[in-house]
Amino acid sequence: MPELSQSSFQIGHLTIKPVLALAPLHEITDKAFRAFIREIGGVSLTVSEMVSSEALIRKAHKAERMLTGDGGHPFAVQIAGSRPEAMADAAIIAEQSGADIVDINMGCPASNVTSCFAGSALLRDIKLAESCVKAVVKAVSTPVTVKMRIAWDDSQKERSDYIDFLKMFENNGIAAVTIHPRTRTQQYTGRADWAFIARAVELGMKYPVIGNGDVITPEDAEKMILETGCNGVMIGRGVLYNPFLFKQIMDKSFCVSHNKRIGITIRFFEMLMKLYDERETLHKIKKFSGHFTKGIPGASGLRQKLNALHDPVDILGELKALQAMLNENKGN
Ligand SMILES: Cc1cc2nc3c(=O)[nH]c(=O)nc-3n(C[C@H](O)[C@H](O)[C@H](O)COP(=O)(O)O)c2cc1C
Repeated sequence: MPELSQSSFQIGHLTIKPVLALAPLHEITDKAFRAFIREIGGVSLTVSEMVSSEALIRKAHKAERMLTGDGGHPFAVQIAGSRPEAMADAAIIAEQSGADIVDINMGCPASNVTSCFAGSALLRDIKLAESCVKAVVKAVSTPVTVKMRIAWDDSQKERSDYIDFLKMFENNGIAAVTIHPRTRTQQYTGRADWAFIARAVELGMKYPVIGNGDVITPEDAEKMILETGCNGVMIGRGVLYNPFLFKQIMDKSFCVSHNKRIGITIRFFEMLMKLYDERETLHKIKKFSGHFTKGIPGASGLRQKLNALHDPVDILGELKALQAMLNENKGN
């Protein structure tokens, strides 16, 4: 196997090097988070949060905001929907907003999405899924990719219906497929069954296969490539728990001091403050502070303190005081 840090693959005309992608995470991978992860380094492809195609075409502000790039490339916008015409219009809006790739969501398990036949519900209706794929591929000149689960439920998994989908994608010009090998019924429980990624690779489709699911450490990323032969690795929660993960995959000797961790958290929170109003900033800061302060001396006390604060400026003040203390003690 070539060194992971030296490998690359193509999505259409775009070179993905390193072969690492940040997974779309609804309400997490916004512009600020993606820019923050890019700044740390090691990632090539980033993907927007899932954007509803219906919301995009009625110009909903929140949906339009999700299209914002993070300053780096390649950047994919992921659209969800089940009405081919709406998907096509949404894809055009995404392309015009600067997306390098349009990704179709065939994995979301949330019932408000699947009740509209979108997300993982498309896996139950290959004809409808094909109409959506055809409409989007025809509408844009960017490469179109798909991110999918392997089945709706166990019986569909046992029948390996996903193979029919993989062939349908090839026949309709899909430029890459990301496989999250869980069923919709599983939601996020159990293990991601990487054998389903390996089977997809063995089919030898024209497009690259990106593996996804349960990559938490640099060793997991290497193991996924070795065990499945996938072209790339997409990581979601692992990066939320450890924003330095991509960097560590690329550079095994990379170490993060507590000071650095606090410093980068402060920078990220400052980015959030620039982007959002006070209420939304606070909501986001509280979501991230638990993860980002893990392992820091006195972290649980710090988290309690931060949780009691209701002004982002006070939270930043608390983190800066901790940073100054760590600097004084040279603690890292
Ligand atoms: C909070 C959360 C939000 C997610 N939002 C999306 C989304 O918007 N689009 C999507 O395709 N997948 C979404 N996913 C699924 C992830 O992209 C990914 O497939 C899944 O978490 C498995 O990868 P991981 O183990 O690296 O996290 C989400 C997952 C979580 C936990």
